Amino acid sequence: MARILITSALPYINGIKHLGNLVGSMLPADVYARFQRQRGHEVLYICATDEHGTPAELAARAAGQTVREYCREQHDIQKQAGEAFGLSFDHFGRSSNAPNHRLTQHFAKALENKGLIEERTDRQVYSVDDMRFLPDRYVEGTCPHCDYEKARGDQCDNCGRLLDPVDLKNPYSAISGSHKVELRETKHLYLLQSKLQDRIAAWVEEKSGWPLLTKSIAQKWLKEGLRDRSITRDLQWGVPVAYEGEARPGFENKVFYVWFDAPIEYIGATEEWALSNGQDWESWWRTDKGADDVKYVQVMGKDNVAFHTVSFPCTILGSEEPWKTVDALKSLNWLTWYGGKFSTSEQRGIFMDQALEILPADYWRWHLMANAPESDDASFTLEHFASVVNKDLADVLGNFVNRITRFCKARFGEEVPAEGAYGEAEKALIAELETRAAAYAGYLEEMEFRKAFTELRAIWVAGNEYLQVAAPWTAIKEDRERAAASVRCALNLIVVFAALSRPVIPFTADKMFAIFDLDPETAARWPDDVGAALSRFKGGEAFALPEVLFAKIEDEQVEEWRQRFKAQ
Ligand code: MF3
Ligand code: ZN
Repeated sequence: MARILITSALPYINGIKHLGNLVGSMLPADVYARFQRQRGHEVLYICATDEHGTPAELAARAAGQTVREYCREQHDIQKQAGEAFGLSFDHFGRSSNAPNHRLTQHFAKALENKGLIEERTDRQVYSVDDMRFLPDRYVEGTCPHCDYEKARGDQCDNCGRLLDPVDLKNPYSAISGSHKVELRETKHLYLLQSKLQDRIAAWVEEKSGWPLLTKSIAQKWLKEGLRDRSITRDLQWGVPVAYEGEARPGFENKVFYVWFDAPIEYIGATEEWALSNGQDWESWWRTDKGADDVKYVQVMGKDNVAFHTVSFPCTILGSEEPWKTVDALKSLNWLTWYGGKFSTSEQRGIFMDQALEILPADYWRWHLMANAPESDDASFTLEHFASVVNKDLADVLGNFVNRITRFCKARFGEEVPAEGAYGEAEKALIAELETRAAAYAGYLEEMEFRKAFTELRAIWVAGNEYLQVAAPWTAIKEDRERAAASVRCALNLIVVFAALSRPVIPFTADKMFAIFDLDPETAARWPDDVGAALSRFKGGEAFALPEVLFAKIEDEQVEEWRQRFKAQ
């Protein structure tokens, strides 16, 4: 039994996440966590809301709330949406909680002790009318690269380039809209990443198991040379720049930069989990306290890779303390909305709460994971979604379960038939499923989700084809025992399908177990031996007809949703 720590990139607090965010980090991490739990491993899946920084302050202001109120409310909303989607976090924490404050200050101090922090004086945009500095998104203006007029201080939404607020042309305050801005001097702490270049490069080199996309992003940054980066901001909301309760002189009105504290919350949230469950967090994070046998897996969108392969490692390796670092890093490309951007600020696309108003979680989970943006960006369209749901879920999996349970009830009663013995057809089926189930597990292990779910679909199809060939509805006319054996095999297959499918469609899998009144927790143990699993029911076990597992999506529904979500 291995110990596996899984974290997915922490969703920003500013608003409920869209399907692109979901498939870009939390959902694949959940599927992997569920898979590894079913395999019998000890899994800890940690996530949290990323609550600091200018986006949170601006969103709170727009909502007419204090940041504190806003974050509390939004955290609960995101937590609930995650649960409704079946995201099986062991803990969903908050980067604004006490453990993260303590740890962030601890790391800053440790880095300072190693001579890796320096105070520097910067020139920064200051708003005369607002009487404050304008970090990051508090300044807007014209992008120096593409001339887009509403570029944000930290990034241009048009050309995607990262910006420094002082580079904007025609800058104005995002708070008041005032153009009365000027450059003023202010002090900041810099993390001297340039001194860590060799250490990070050697560490990246060691990571032989990283996928190409991950490794090439890390190497690109290393090749450009690591630059010292400012880790403080002139803001109120965040982790105070203080050590042991004492503000650092000159930094009374400053906090740590959100990208400095956010990844530390992976550790902070583990501590939150430990505190509320009477557990030990250090055995997951400190290699001197038992964490060296932990496998640590991170999941994130491609825009987050540099922060996790370079910046966060600078924080933890720079401290020279025995922290656990990432082993496997899965990064995903973008899911697009009809070829364009999903956008929180422009409310474009479908958001998690809206998705569940329309259809249950498993419909979305299946479609998103089977078409995950892995090797390339992938486009979400309602038409494609409907066709995948109808074909894979309704026609293949749903139909199989429906058909065989109804047939059995009609001809043998609501009990698994005991007569007859497995023959050639069953042997062939078992051989095919053994090969496919092994391939499927291998892909999940590698987090190659599209390949995994192509294989799972093929497993469902093999079940249907078996039923076509065995055709108990014909066989029963001449050979009742033969018909009974194939019905028994197919009913056993429902349980095998449920176990194999549970990582991706957990709610449906549990309905499938419920047909036979099985406890999902034990029934979902991974069927390593498919042959043995198909002989689980010998005959005489009662079952209850299930409701229809998946309803087909009609063209009128697609049309209605197209209107509602302004699809084009
Ligand atoms: N909130 C960030 C985003 O959505 C991700 C933060 S990941 C962390 O892009 F590691 F910093 F927490
Ligand atoms: Zn631009």
